[in-house]
Amino acid sequence: MFHLNLPLRTLVILGLCQFGRRGLASAPELREQPKKIAIVGAGIGGTATAYFLRQEFGDGVKIDIFEAGTVGGRLATETVAGAEYETGGAIIHPLNLHMKHFVDKLGLSPRKDVPSKMAIFDGKELMFEESDWFIVNILKMIWRYGFNFLRMYMWVEGVLDKFMRIYQYQQFGYAFSSVDRLLHAMGGDAFLTMANQTLEEAMMGEGFSQSFLNDIVAPVARVNYGQSVRINAFVGAVSLAGADAGLWAVDGGNKRVCSGLLYNSKAELIQARVNAIALKHRPSKTGNSVNLYEVNYVSQSGSAHSLYDIVILATPLHQGLSDVSFVGFSPPLPSQFPGRYHQTVTTLVHGLLNVSFLGSSADPASFLYSDILTTEHKQLAINSLSSLDPVSIPEGYKRPPASHPGVWKVFSPQPLTPEQLDGMFLRRDGVWEKRWLAYPAYRPPHRGTPPFQLAERLYYLSGVEWAASAMEMSAISARNLALLAHHRWHHDTSKVDQEDLHTRLRGEL
Ligand SMILES: Cc1cc2nc3c(=O)[nH]c(=O)nc-3n(C[C@H](O)[C@H](O)[C@H](O)COP(=O)(O)OP(=O)(O)OC[C@H]3O[C@@H](n4cnc5c(N)ncnc54)[C@H](O)[C@@H]3O)c2cc1C
Ligand SMILES: *[C@@H]1O[C@H](CO)[C@@H](O)[C@H](O)[C@H]1NC(C)=O
Ligand SMILES: *[C@@H]1O[C@H](CO)[C@@H](O)[C@H](O)[C@H]1NC(C)=O
Repeated sequence: MFHLNLPLRTLVILGLCQFGRRGLASAPELREQPKKIAIVGAGIGGTATAYFLRQEFGDGVKIDIFEAGTVGGRLATETVAGAEYETGGAIIHPLNLHMKHFVDKLGLSPRKDVPSKMAIFDGKELMFEESDWFIVNILKMIWRYGFNFLRMYMWVEGVLDKFMRIYQYQQFGYAFSSVDRLLHAMGGDAFLTMANQTLEEAMMGEGFSQSFLNDIVAPVARVNYGQSVRINAFVGAVSLAGADAGLWAVDGGNKRVCSGLLYNSKAELIQARVNAIALKHRPSKTGNSVNLYEVNYVSQSGSAHSLYDIVILATPLHQGLSDVSFVGFSPPLPSQFPGRYHQTVTTLVHGLLNVSFLGSSADPASFLYSDILTTEHKQLAINSLSSLDPVSIPEGYKRPPASHPGVWKVFSPQPLTPEQLDGMFLRRDGVWEKRWLAYPAYRPPHRGTPPFQLAERLYYLSGVEWAASAMEMSAISARNLALLAHHRWHHDTSKVDQEDLHTRLRGEL
């Protein structure tokens, strides 16, 4: 696959053995830089890829990003009653270092924090209500679940600790050719097992109780991934980390990161749908033939195509999401990979909540829960219900109690019927709905995830979502692909799929 003559390889390897570190290691340019790179998809994955590719390849390369819909992809907002609200990816973990870096670099800021309070609805009543008092919450939890709660924090903390290693590897320029190798580099066999077993199996194995899984873990999986505790344990841990303190969002809307990265990377946005990528052979100056990719696309002004040295697909190649055909590849590439994406419907309702729907007899004026999670319950049509704050918090903003009209966000697997909405809301001044194919329908054990590299210089970002789907996962995949594309271009194998990095890099940085 890689046209590499031996002396060159030896040279590169020697160069790198002497200078283990990145920077020093970037051997003299052995090959000219690519001229043109195409990225398909301008969500956080595609725009972050543009940003990191610019870092790796410098100013000389032309980067084009194709986007069929709107910049931001699954990061999107909607205007309701004069203010903007997140309808897709909403929360960011405090240890999501790439997202943090983007926001700093682009001169954006985190949205002002509004205190929130959670409750859990079991289809009949609120079986758990968070108190304003931290100590009361702890006591309630210990009373009901013993030390399950504390142990859950420790378990998630342990996963997070290993997860954080990826930032060091990337800082040193290391890349991975598959999702499994990336997971293994972070957390060894334990991470591979987590990605291939259910959250339920993993937590039962760790001694967590069934009631804790049903009452606490399942509601968190439902609000974050619209699915049960049968999601894989890795995405399950990501999901539970999403119940940590210090979660944040971007002031003005998370999608601003995407437009910011697009601008910062000086990539050109091409508003078009890519429908085919064809492998073309062209004679080169040296007399050999070089492979180029012809990207075929349809825009408002019709069909067109253009040639690229490198192509990055930054959209899930799954049914209902993308349909790109690959022409001239051997072995042939499928337009769509096995597995499907799970539907989550976001419904924004501007109106008055019926608190009796939640089995609450509280005075709506003192009903202040911002996030109502749900346990698994056959008759329940919703996954969660949240009182939404706008993407920018105005001076003196206070979240309205349930006695006042507000903006509510409901997640459900199916669109809500008018009858269902009638039961939940006393009054509806406006309803807005978006049906997402939101994240993979996780069904471990699995038969392996798609590779990061589909052909010689054709890369795929979104396979990482089968480990876990989140903004930061797309950003990590973006950085990995930029590094991988760079190393492959320069035939540098010393920074790809290295084993035991954690031990080797100990003491560095
Ligand atoms: C309801 C919901 C809630 C979520 N909550 C969170 C959360 O709280 N925190 C979190 O971190 N994550 C959350 N996520 C997940 C997160 O939004 C995604 O993981 C992330 O945004 C994926 O980004 P991406 O760029 O990889 O893919 P996408 O955003 O899907 O980008 C792909 C882009 O490619 C474009 N495209 C597709 N095919 C073509 C083509 N043929 N030609 C040209 N363009 C094409 C699409 O239009 C799209 O814009 C949530 C997702 C949803 C739907
Ligand atoms: C509010 O919810 C309760 C409980 O589900 C229901 O009996 C009542 O009819 C609802 N109120 C309205 C006005 O729909
Ligand atoms: C996942 O587990 C199943 C059995 O539980 C096994 O057959 C399969 O090979 C595993 N897949 C990976 C990628 O580890």
